[in-house]
Amino acid sequence: MLEQTVEIVANVRAADLYFQLVVRAPGIAPLVQPGQFAHVRIPSLKAALLRRPFSIYQVNGDTFSLLYKTVGQGTAALARMLPGEVLNVIAPLGRGFTVPRDDAALPLLIAGGYGMAALYLLAQRSPRPGIVFVGGRRRADILCVAEFAALGWEVRIATEDGSHGEKGLVTQPLLAAIRQPAPPGRHFRLFACGPTPMLHAVGQIAQEFNLPAELSMDTHMCCGIGACLTCVIPVKSGDGWAYQRVCTDGPVFNAQELLWTIPPAPPVPVAPSNPLPPLPALDSPGSGEKRLTADRERQGSRDIQGEVSS
Ligand SMILES: Cc1cc2nc3c(=O)[nH]c(=O)nc-3n(C[C@H](O)[C@H](O)[C@H](O)COP(=O)(O)OP(=O)(O)OC[C@H]3O[C@@H](n4cnc5c(N)ncnc54)[C@H](O)[C@@H]3O)c2cc1C
Ligand code: FES
Repeated sequence: MLEQTVEIVANVRAADLYFQLVVRAPGIAPLVQPGQFAHVRIPSLKAALLRRPFSIYQVNGDTFSLLYKTVGQGTAALARMLPGEVLNVIAPLGRGFTVPRDDAALPLLIAGGYGMAALYLLAQRSPRPGIVFVGGRRRADILCVAEFAALGWEVRIATEDGSHGEKGLVTQPLLAAIRQPAPPGRHFRLFACGPTPMLHAVGQIAQEFNLPAELSMDTHMCCGIGACLTCVIPVKSGDGWAYQRVCTDGPVFNAQELLWTIPPAPPVPVAPSNPLPPLPALDSPGSGEKRLTADRERQGSRDIQGEVSS
C-alpha cells in the first residue's frame, strides 16, 4: 500500500454515466492484485479529506485505471478532471479475490453495474477462462462486454428492463448455468461484485448448491485503512460472530463467513432474586396499628421539616 500523487493520463466517458480514469502510478501498478481498490482524494471537493474508494479495473505497465459511475458530488467532480491534473491515491488496498489456479475450477463471475471493474483483473489473470454474468437495470449499465470477450470469456447478459440480454436479474442465467452439471472434471467457483442485494442472492445460491463463492462487499468507507470502523460488517466467528472491516479484512469475503444481519443480542440473564422475609400477617394482633403509628410519625417529621425549610 502506497500513498502517491499520480498524474491523470485519460478520463473519458465509457458509457452513459460511467467514466474510465487512467493514472500513471509506477509505484502502485505492479503491486495490484485482482479485487483490490484505490482510495482517491478528489482535490476540488470541499471535504477533500474524505476519499472515495474505487476498484482497480485494469493495469497496464506503469498505469492503472478505474471505471466509475457518477452518482454524487465526488464522482461528478472526478469526471470533470483533465489529463495532466494530479490526484492523491492510497493503493492498492484490501484483500482481493483468489485467482483460481486450479485447472479443474470453472470460474463463474457475477457482476452488477460497476462490479465489472473489480472482476476484470481476475478474469485476465485466471489461467482458464470461464463465464461472466453481467447484470444491470438497463442496457446502459452493461459494461465491459467486449473486454471480457476479448479475454476469451463467455459473457451472459441480463437487464431488469429487458433492453439487453435476458429480461430479469443476473442471478437467473447464473442459476440456469449451475443447474446443469459442470463439464467432466471441472467444478464451479463463484466470484461476485455488485450491489448488496445481488451479493446476498449469490451467497444464498452458493450455499444452496454448496459451491465456493467469494463476494466483494460494498460499504461506505472513510479512512480505507482500518482505523475508523465505518465499514464494518458482521461475520461468523467461532460459535458467535464479530465485526470485520471491509477495507482491510475485505473487500472480498468467502460467502460462508458472512452474516447478512446482525444477530439479536442474547437475553440478559436475570439474577436470582433473594427470597423476601415473610410479611407479618395482616390480622396478627397489633400489626396494622403499629404500621399506622409509624406512618403518622414519618408524616409528622416531614411536616416539621417543611415548616423549617419554608
Ligand atoms: C471497495 C469498493 C469499491 C468500489 N468500486 C467502485 C468502482 O469500481 N466504481 C464505482 O463507480 N464505484 C465504486 N465504489 C462505490 C464508490 O466508492 C461510490 O460510488 C463513491 O464513493 C460515491 O462518491 P460520491 O461523492 O460521488 O457520492 P456521494 O455524494 O458520497 O453519494 C451519492 C450516492 O451514492 C451512494 N454511495 C456512496 N458511497 C457508496 C458505496 N460505497 N456504495 C454504494 N453506494 C454509495 C450514497 O449513499 C448516495 O446515495 C466502490 C466502493 C467500495 C467500498
Ligand atoms: S473505512 Fe475506516 S476502518 Fe474501514
